[in-house]
Amino acid sequence: MSNAPPPHRLKTTIAIIGAGDVGSTIAYTLILSSVCSEVIMVDPKTEVLEGQVRDLGDATYGGRSGTKVRVGTSKEAGQADVVVVTAGAKQRDGESRIDLLGRNLKILKSIFEPMQPIARTTVVLMVANPVDILSYFARKLSGLPENQVLGTGTSLDSARLRGELARRAEVAASSIDAYVLGEHGEGQFIAWSSASIGTAPLHHALPKDSLTDSSKREIASHTRGAAGAIIKAKGCTNYGIGSVAASLCKYILFDSHTVRPLSFYQPDLDCCLSMPAVIGRKGIVRPIHVELDEGEKEALESCAKDLRGIIEKAEK
Ligand code: 2OP
Repeated sequence: MSNAPPPHRLKTTIAIIGAGDVGSTIAYTLILSSVCSEVIMVDPKTEVLEGQVRDLGDATYGGRSGTKVRVGTSKEAGQADVVVVTAGAKQRDGESRIDLLGRNLKILKSIFEPMQPIARTTVVLMVANPVDILSYFARKLSGLPENQVLGTGTSLDSARLRGELARRAEVAASSIDAYVLGEHGEGQFIAWSSASIGTAPLHHALPKDSLTDSSKREIASHTRGAAGAIIKAKGCTNYGIGSVAASLCKYILFDSHTVRPLSFYQPDLDCCLSMPAVIGRKGIVRPIHVELDEGEKEALESCAKDLRGIIEKAEK
């Protein structure tokens, strides 16, 4: 009698809802790194879906990946280890992420119903925008425990921030510990007071006197405006968010207990926004408390107030 776990226990499945630019980039990134046994893709536009899956299949065979990719159903997605929700309208040049709420909340509601009953171990990773608001509603629509529904949040903004600081400090971005927190959008703020390079506070590690108030404003504006600039130039962003989302899938599947700024429900603020948290197979394993200075606390309060206002309007 074999004592190996039953086959389904060995297989790991990531379901990607939405086979557009972002969904297919996440799938491609997962395939190249053989993160899971299979990627299933769900999208009502069947012709595009089949085309994406065929093209991604060629990446699997070509790159000798251990990951299979196929068209999936919503029912199957509801049984996946991780469900990545990318489906929704994307920002057009000059549009804010919040402008997408009406359309994308309707799409979100249509996504979860056919997935039910969702497996109690499934983790939902929201990517579609406005990701903080949609993560808030996804908790209720999925019926999953709070910690199992999270959004990419300001993980991408923080990567952009690290990239800009790396350029100015002439160090690797991976050696910079700096977070954008709050909303993945206009309400975001940089936690300057806790940022460091090699355990040295940022203003010690950057060239002397280079971290002035005006340079901080410039860096914050560069980070906040990155998506708009890319969308203006190429019509969408997909590689940055694709890489971030695929990494988060890996942290979940491998139960890595990595710390990242993630959008998840904040009970004291009654909204989802990004704060540092440990991510693992259960989704949000636990929040990591970060000391904020007075200015950062005000920015957080103001961000939460704005998000609450948008949620209340959407709930009417
Ligand atoms: C981004 O920041 C559009 O939210 C997407 O790239």
